[in-house]
Amino acid sequence: MTDKLIIFDTTLRDGEQSPGASMTRDEKIRIAKALEKMRVDVIEGGFPIASRGDFEAVKSIANVIKDSRVCGLARALDKDIERAAEALKDAVSPRIHTFIATSPVHMEKKLHKSPDEVLEQAVRAVKLARNYTDDVEFSPEDAGRSDLDFLCRVIEAVIDVGASTINVPDTVGYTLPEQFGHLIAQLRERVPNSDKAIFSVHCHNDLGLAVANSLSAVANGARQVECTINGLGERAGNAALEEVVMAVRTRQDIFACQTNLDTTQIMNCSRLVSSITGFAVQPNKAIVGANAFAHEAGIHQDGVLKDRETYEIMRPEDVGWKANRMVLGKHSGRNAFRQRLQDLAIELNSEEELNAAFARFKELADKKHEIYDEDLQAIVSETLITERERVKLVTLKVCSETGEKPHASVTLSIDNVENTVSASGSGPVDATFKAIEALLNSNTKLLVYSVNNITDGTDAQGEVGVRLEKDGKIVNGQGADTDIVIASAKAYISALNKILMPLKRKHPQAAREV
Ligand code: KIV
Ligand code: ZN
Repeated sequence: MTDKLIIFDTTLRDGEQSPGASMTRDEKIRIAKALEKMRVDVIEGGFPIASRGDFEAVKSIANVIKDSRVCGLARALDKDIERAAEALKDAVSPRIHTFIATSPVHMEKKLHKSPDEVLEQAVRAVKLARNYTDDVEFSPEDAGRSDLDFLCRVIEAVIDVGASTINVPDTVGYTLPEQFGHLIAQLRERVPNSDKAIFSVHCHNDLGLAVANSLSAVANGARQVECTINGLGERAGNAALEEVVMAVRTRQDIFACQTNLDTTQIMNCSRLVSSITGFAVQPNKAIVGANAFAHEAGIHQDGVLKDRETYEIMRPEDVGWKANRMVLGKHSGRNAFRQRLQDLAIELNSEEELNAAFARFKELADKKHEIYDEDLQAIVSETLITERERVKLVTLKVCSETGEKPHASVTLSIDNVENTVSASGSGPVDATFKAIEALLNSNTKLLVYSVNNITDGTDAQGEVGVRLEKDGKIVNGQGADTDIVIASAKAYISALNKILMPLKRKHPQAAREV
């Protein structure tokens, strides 16, 4: 029998630390439910002390998720651990994840603490966390640059006081696969009580090695991998869940372990996270990119038609590429709509929300013959967002003619008061954004503007992503419509709403208060 490889998803915590990827409580619940349906073992819901919103999100996830463990992050501080315990108190299977940095540079420059003080703080934190749950995970932050002897001392001490998972983070994505695998092997060999804990890894992608490092660790005995959907995460991101899981599954000749995941849910989770955060998936991204299973070259197509194994090492349906493409259309009723949302693990909070989403679905079905899962995800994201936004798009009229300057007239509802303004610009999108700005005067800087088709065909919805910056704060907005100028206006307004309703939160790895 092979070992189990525990999949710990941190999309809702580390993933959310990507600039502009912050999510609301309801969005986090939607993702958590999709992760549970995929049978992820542990869901890290957030960092409860960071803000009231983070606390509420972890608490709500703890209340609704039954089949996966729910984890809250806490620095090695009493108040963080108490707050995490409070957020998790109703969880069926709660886990507290506490951490403190162990590398010389972090201890000296960030914490201003000696190694002995750090060790003492780590032990105290794990002891305190154990008062609330038997399931305590400890991370020596920046383990990839920590001294091996010191790391062994800290790990031995925290296992002694009850940490059952030891997570080894390569916080800055510095290590190389062979070196990182060797580190895990050394820790398991040298820490006297290492058999009393599961070894886990948490790799960042600064050198593009997060997945390779994680797999090397698994080959050397790690039995938990921390990862995120689409590789979302701080800076260059974390190890991509879909890549780790499919590598282990595809190369069973190498790995002596298996995950419990329903891999056919991967595409659903990938699309959901991309539609909620506005982080588009690059077409050539492994497993979930639009081209991941597309065979362009004639010779490849010919080979695949004769025998798919000639060029395919995985089947697209195994990760949900084809299996989930049930089509709805304008004759589909409320029941079919509701059923498909349920299949996608999307639960709306009330009948009103379902009605609003269904009305949008009907509107779209009038313009577009076939509605796919990707369209449904976009419809639900938009319904949930726009219900509570301060600024709403009421109407948009754009005039674009050869030889003439494009012109846009926009009516916005701002705190329930409607205003109309017109502007011209170098293109229809530029004119639209200028008109919106004439009303809101936001003083934001447009960092990124991107358009992707959600499905194929010229009647497809365009999904527009907009990234804005104001006073160092970065937000993403997204909008979808069969008309890309309208999608652009929706995306711009959704980003502006986030600027107008800022979320205040602490960063878990910041030096302050540690
Ligand atoms: O990257 C890191 O070190 C982390 C820890 C909090 C586990 O995210
Ligand atoms: Zn991290």
